[in-house]
Amino acid sequence: MKTYLVTGGAGFIGANFVHFMLNKYSDINIINLDKLTYAGNLENLKDIEANKNYSFVQGDICDKKLVEKLFAENEIDYVVNFAAESHVDRSIKEPEIFVKTNVLGTVNLLNIAKNAWQVEGGFKQGKKFMQVSTDEVYGSLGKTGYFLETTPLDPHSPYSASKTGSDLMVKAYFDTYKMPVNTTRCSNNYGPYQFPEKLIPLLINNCLNHKNLPVYGDGMNIRDWLYVEDHCKAIDMVINGGRIGQVYNIGGHNERTNMQIVKTIINYLNENVDKEVTEKLITYVEDRLGHDKRYGIDPTKIKDELGWYPETTFEVGIKKTIKWNLDNKQWMDNITTGDYQNYYKNMYKK
Ligand SMILES: NC(=O)c1ccc[n+]([C@@H]2O[C@H](COP(=O)([O-])OP(=O)(O)OC[C@H]3O[C@@H](n4cnc5c(N)ncnc54)[C@H](O)[C@@H]3O)[C@@H](O)[C@H]2O)c1
Repeated sequence: MKTYLVTGGAGFIGANFVHFMLNKYSDINIINLDKLTYAGNLENLKDIEANKNYSFVQGDICDKKLVEKLFAENEIDYVVNFAAESHVDRSIKEPEIFVKTNVLGTVNLLNIAKNAWQVEGGFKQGKKFMQVSTDEVYGSLGKTGYFLETTPLDPHSPYSASKTGSDLMVKAYFDTYKMPVNTTRCSNNYGPYQFPEKLIPLLINNCLNHKNLPVYGDGMNIRDWLYVEDHCKAIDMVINGGRIGQVYNIGGHNERTNMQIVKTIINYLNENVDKEVTEKLITYVEDRLGHDKRYGIDPTKIKDELGWYPETTFEVGIKKTIKWNLDNKQWMDNITTGDYQNYYKNMYKK
């Protein structure tokens, strides 16, 4: 019975991962450590909160005493580190909290895991620290080419710089102590439980409320989109089969301009839900500072070594995601009141 310490499991990808793992395995324990920032929501885990293989601890990954206590009380086999400040726009306004959680929090986890797992001459068998990172650490691409695991790190935003910092600390723990670690770098995710500050749920939510659809610059920035379950599947494969110390890129060759995403969502909602959702809602807003032009992942390594492949095409995934948002309107309404409304007004000024 393996025990996973999943951090940030009440957020978007973390919650999907907890569901994915508990559906797939009946012989694992998951301890979810989450601070419950604005992005963490226990509603995301309501259906599994009574599962005997799952427990929740509210707390900060930077809290040394708490993390030490978790390791002292449980034989933790894997740390899967999702906990992070994750929104680029917020990082431009408040960089410090990104350094605190993403860099110092990761170092705290690494250090405590190392102390718990280190034995004479190495590490206990079967342990692994899994760092969940992003393609944004590679910077921006021109019109051609893809990010490889060997592409030099060249982050531009405080968010991606902080993720790069944590990735390099993970690398240092492997290089220095030979700690069993892996890092994954995934492209943009979409799917259920995503907080509506991120592009796809923001667009769906605003369309349904006939609010403007903020589009940065000329709308031609390109992102590489992956359905969140395919990301979860990849993380599981890397935990089980990834070579120690290695980085694995995750992406499904699904590049779209932001404007293509906007039009896809408008067209679907217009045809299926509400005729008042039209392109008239599109509003161009001042471009994001330091806005990366294009991301594109080369997933050859994880495909060749571990046999991973994306199962959900964009056409299917986007419909599932829109449908999930329609079926869970109450979830969206609950998290888009108060603070979010003020945040939204300030963030997306024309
Ligand atoms: N969303 C994407 O498209 C994407 C793509 C690739 C990689 N990632 C990475 O995946 C991870 C999860 O991303 P997400 O989109 O689910 O983020 P999210 O913002 O939805 O969730 C982050 C979670 O971490 C928790 N958290 C924040 N600070 C914490 C702290 N100090 N201690 C404990 N918990 C804390 C929050 O409460 C929240 O539940 C991040 O590390 C992110 O960099 C995200």
